[in-house]
Amino acid sequence: MIDPRERLIVALDVSSVAEAEAMVARLGDAVAFYKIGYQLGFAGGLDFARALTDAGKQIFIDMKLHDIGNTVAQGVKSIARMGASFLTVHAYPQTMHAAVDARAGSKLRILAVTVLTSYDDADLAAAGYDFTVPELVAERSSQARDIGVDGLVCSAQEAANIRSLVGVDMALVTPGIRPAIADADDQKRVMTPTAAIRAGADYLVVGRPVVAAPDPKAAAETIVAEIAAAAR
Ligand code: C5P
Repeated sequence: MIDPRERLIVALDVSSVAEAEAMVARLGDAVAFYKIGYQLGFAGGLDFARALTDAGKQIFIDMKLHDIGNTVAQGVKSIARMGASFLTVHAYPQTMHAAVDARAGSKLRILAVTVLTSYDDADLAAAGYDFTVPELVAERSSQARDIGVDGLVCSAQEAANIRSLVGVDMALVTPGIRPAIADADDQKRVMTPTAAIRAGADYLVVGRPVVAAPDPKAAAETIVAEIAAAAR
């Protein structure tokens, strides 16, 4: 059983380290795990990530790597040395193999992104694929499991299906989470923390419902309490 507080990953989707520092200070002990993506990562956030790991926080580097195997492997080794806990890569077999091999001996876990949630069947066809979204999600999830990838990023709606496909060993990490009282923002398919945990999610990625809340710390504490109750 993972500690409920470790199952909430707050997306630090802000544009400067100063804003990120202020948010982390406000959230204090309520949040133990942060996700850093393109926006903050390319604005000094990678050094800040190192400072957060030094301060005992867990870090999810959401950079969705995809390149030739050697380049992926060297990047993964650098991210492992930062002390990060999670890193995303696109679910291409060569990329997944390289990432899994390169994280050996570190605490870094590799998460694969099967099909971006902004893609529909027409987008896949335009990109040259002869698969529907559910077919490609299933194919890549199975490949990720066979390659030894540590987890998958998926919508909470997909979690139950994917869980039945990949078994209990892979971590399922789900964005698109909205507490019952929060706005959906631009997320099209949302689930409450309770529903996501019951659908088989291990970790919930939450951005705006925490960082844009009038009281971010209270919002985070409410979500952690909901996770704890749902996991019982
Ligand atoms: O603010 P919100 O809770 O919608 O933020 C969700 C976070 O999860 C954002 O950082 C977003 O980029 C990320 N994400 C997502 N959907 C995916 C993959 C990642 O919303 N399929």
